[in-house]
Amino acid sequence: MSNPAPLSHLRPSPLREFLFGSAYYPEHWDAAIREADPALLRAAGWNVVRMGEFAWDLIEPEEGKFDFRLFDETIARMAAVGIRTIFCTPTAAPPRWLTVNHPGIVRVDADGRLMQHGSRQHASYFSPVFREYSRRITRALAGHFAGNPHVIGWQTDNEFHCHFAFDHSPDVQSAFAEWLRVRFENDIAKLNAAWGTAFWSQTYVRFEDVPTPRDHRPTWANPAHALDYRRFLADGIASFQREQVEILRAANSAWWITHNGCHEVSDYRGDLGRDLDFVSYDSYPFFELEPASRASNHAFQLDLVRSYAGNFVVMEQQSGPGGQGDYFLDNPEPGEMRRLAWTGIARGADGLLLFRERSCRFGAEEYWTGVLDHDNVPRRRYREASQLGAEVARVGRELLGTTVRFDVGVAAGDFTCEQGHAPLSHGLPDPRAMAKCIHGVFFRAGCAVGIVHPEDTLEGLKIYILPHLALFNPAWLPALENFVAAGGTLVVGARTGSKDLNNNVNPETPPGALRGLAGATVEEYGRQNRPEARPLAMRLEGAESDTPTTLWYEQLAPDKGTLVAGTWTTRHLAGKPAITRRAHGRGQVIYVGTYLTREFTEGLLPLLPIPAPGGRSSSVETVLRADANRRFRILINHGEDTARIAVPVAGRELLDDKPVSGTLALAPNGVAVIRER
Ligand code: GAL
Repeated sequence: MSNPAPLSHLRPSPLREFLFGSAYYPEHWDAAIREADPALLRAAGWNVVRMGEFAWDLIEPEEGKFDFRLFDETIARMAAVGIRTIFCTPTAAPPRWLTVNHPGIVRVDADGRLMQHGSRQHASYFSPVFREYSRRITRALAGHFAGNPHVIGWQTDNEFHCHFAFDHSPDVQSAFAEWLRVRFENDIAKLNAAWGTAFWSQTYVRFEDVPTPRDHRPTWANPAHALDYRRFLADGIASFQREQVEILRAANSAWWITHNGCHEVSDYRGDLGRDLDFVSYDSYPFFELEPASRASNHAFQLDLVRSYAGNFVVMEQQSGPGGQGDYFLDNPEPGEMRRLAWTGIARGADGLLLFRERSCRFGAEEYWTGVLDHDNVPRRRYREASQLGAEVARVGRELLGTTVRFDVGVAAGDFTCEQGHAPLSHGLPDPRAMAKCIHGVFFRAGCAVGIVHPEDTLEGLKIYILPHLALFNPAWLPALENFVAAGGTLVVGARTGSKDLNNNVNPETPPGALRGLAGATVEEYGRQNRPEARPLAMRLEGAESDTPTTLWYEQLAPDKGTLVAGTWTTRHLAGKPAITRRAHGRGQVIYVGTYLTREFTEGLLPLLPIPAPGGRSSSVETVLRADANRRFRILINHGEDTARIAVPVAGRELLDDKPVSGTLALAPNGVAVIRER
């Protein structure tokens, strides 16, 4: 199986069965528990388990000696009750013999400290030796399971870059030089020009002399150098994964392949995502410690994942409290685990696995709570998982083939924009953080909001927002023009279009490539470090009071025919244009000369043609999953009180299996899945 459809947030997954289950670690349990588990899990609705991602030491206990017995036995036992297996390449946790025999394969941090065996993710993706062993274990597993009908698909590795991305090992140094040689066509002059090495005497004469960049050793690195290093690191995990993918596909073309992201310095819209049949996501919403922010953060994370490659699988869903090292997250209260799971499904999951089957009694995650507790006594989490299992068994399959539809799109997830910001942030929030903030404003206002990468289709959107994408790619322009010409409202945040794709400043006046479409230029700009000491504010068109700004200001110069939709009212900017509005075809472009912070964006809403949210209630999230023929409206109450909500379109509520129309009462943590007539 290989998903030929281009990456798009509107791409359904190729799954034909809604996956429900958990991670499962037979290596943590004795024989009696292993024997009893399949029936226990099946009774709670499991149809799948994921295994093997940290068990390299068991599968290859000695170099070249393979032992699949534990997994063969577990896969067969699970299959006997109808639970199938997702297997993993175990490369996130190499066995001890590997680092004993090859100590040079470890990652090295920016201070030259060698990572070591004893936790996980210590081997370098750039080590040719480690890659050789990675291919070998992958080949052994692929060959062994190729004929096993109960292994349905694969996860590559586990959470690339989740603990450690910035590798400076000797293998990285040499691989970086070779990567640069290819990128700059073996012409070092091209590198010098692209990076502006004339600044601070950085000119290179040979690719092999280019170091990996290290900030603050002693001071700031060149931002173009830093961006290319990040591109190189992202390419590293993509090519490491590709080696495994090629082996797995050659062994059995019916297998699907996924990876459970999504962590730093990874480009899911590049080869990393394109090589997969779908992307998976590990969802731990309680890492947000502030309960009031959890619902909007969770929605944003899910929307971001969907923006990479379409519908996804939640490969790990937090089922209980979790802790490692010095933290221990809140315990989801009764009903919360189910609500979190349904939120994932509403926002595009075509499968969901709880983390994990049972809390392990040992190891760094001995307090990472599973569906069952250490003592193996089924309690409320097991009962809640069983309810969820029964629900997805009835409703999950119906949702397959549908994708999430929404009115307001926010741009995020572009690797270049986001990684380009990091080395030279000037203390400003990165584009992804701003996208999250803007997404949150629309989410709380009850609008149907999602994330759309600027390269993706803008079909169906009424508003599209580009938040502060300094490294704007001019290739995105024609689609944006068409979107506006066809009636869309494009909102462009300050600084967009001010830099090129090497991370250098454009010679053109900002917003650079967007000038024609925006019909305005930036005359002057500045940082607001202490807005309380030097307050700035603007008066928005139609408003009766001023809206304060923070972080950043721009004084705009509208072209002829461009209207002023906001005017600065304070200090030296008083009377100067702050927001412009340009009509284009049937739509408009609004350029905003400040940062779209939460407070500011809330003030901006009256300027935008916001489609009336259906059945609005501040605590009820409403998501539409649809295809050409079917519409499912999923309502989720993440508030503390029962909500009475107007049902936008009458239909049948599938969880309780009864008709609904008019008003629906949704208890706290309540979920309704309505198939609209
Ligand atoms: C995930 C990871 C799991 C486990 C879990 C709980 O990020 O994939 O292996 O560590 O977090 O910490």
